[in-house]
Amino acid sequence: MIIKHSEKIASPQIIKDSFKQLGYICSDDIAMSVYLACQLQKPILIEGPPGVGKTELAKKTSEYLNTPLIRMQCYEGLDEAKALYEWKYGKQLLYTQLLKDQLGDVMRGAKGLDESVTRLHQFGDIFYSEQFLEPRPLLQALKEKDGAILLIDEIDKADQEFEAFLLELLSDYQVSIPEMGTIKAESKPIVILTSNNTRELGDALKRRCLHLYIPFPDPKLEQEIISVQVPEMDASLRSDMVKFISELRELSLKKVPAVSESIDWAKALLLLNVNELDHNWIKQTLNLLLKFQEDIEVVEPEIHQLLQKMKRP
Ligand SMILES: Nc1ncnc2c1ncn2[C@@H]1O[C@H](COP(=O)(O)OP(=O)(O)OP(=O)(O)O)[C@@H](O)[C@H]1O
Ligand SMILES: [Mg+2]
Repeated sequence: MIIKHSEKIASPQIIKDSFKQLGYICSDDIAMSVYLACQLQKPILIEGPPGVGKTELAKKTSEYLNTPLIRMQCYEGLDEAKALYEWKYGKQLLYTQLLKDQLGDVMRGAKGLDESVTRLHQFGDIFYSEQFLEPRPLLQALKEKDGAILLIDEIDKADQEFEAFLLELLSDYQVSIPEMGTIKAESKPIVILTSNNTRELGDALKRRCLHLYIPFPDPKLEQEIISVQVPEMDASLRSDMVKFISELRELSLKKVPAVSESIDWAKALLLLNVNELDHNWIKQTLNLLLKFQEDIEVVEPEIHQLLQKMKRP
């Protein structure tokens, strides 16, 4: 991985510039974390509110390094079988049927029970070999010869047991399969974990990762994001909408708008040919920014005041 990508990840600045060309704006912290994760071969744990570009960062890293993205979406009840591997039971059964006739040949001439059991055992081992193994995302990532980006998305949704199970993979880039032994990465993947903080993650997991917190972007960064995502938008309208969104984020709402909402709003304002933000346009498009009716009811009576505040230098 390191040798193949050494030029592409030679500095945080190169990462920043290249990701921008792909439509992703990195803050200094983001660029530094990607740089360190690639160079030190350490997983990154990205935390932050929804919609600030955590998942997108993994996608862009994969696109930039031209390396496959292997994504594992976490959920409650996710277990090893779904994450690591499963035995192909159907195939095992089919082969058992087909080989049944050969059983006589295998056992022929066996002396005593011990020898019969040994022969049967060898026969059985075939069914727990690579050909009967169905790799799931974690194993797929370890088996990629030229490395991969392994996105373990929303790890906070998985149970604590699953988090503990990940520790071996995160520190040694290997997993243990009882029937086959330890499987080591062919080429260490770049591992990106994301979390929305729905529960506190364990210290052991945190210790194994570089930690990156992506907050809501500051107005300058958010303007840059909108300018790459919605380039046709007029600069002064863009500046106004970013100011308005920052004001909204100061309010005590159930869910304040994230970057994804800013981008949707920018696209909608462009589509509606809005030249200047006014009370009416804001009122009509507020549902693009706020996803709870109770938040809309809080903000609607405040629009006038927020506009005044926004216009202050
Ligand atoms: N820095 C950025 N540069 C460009 N686009 C961004 C940036 N941050 C967020 N976006 C855009 O915002 C949208 C949401 O991003 P993403 O899905 O990665 O958020 P998330 O943090 O993973 O959210 P969630 O926690 O809900 O999964 C994407 O369409 C992405 O393109
Ligand atoms: Mg996400």
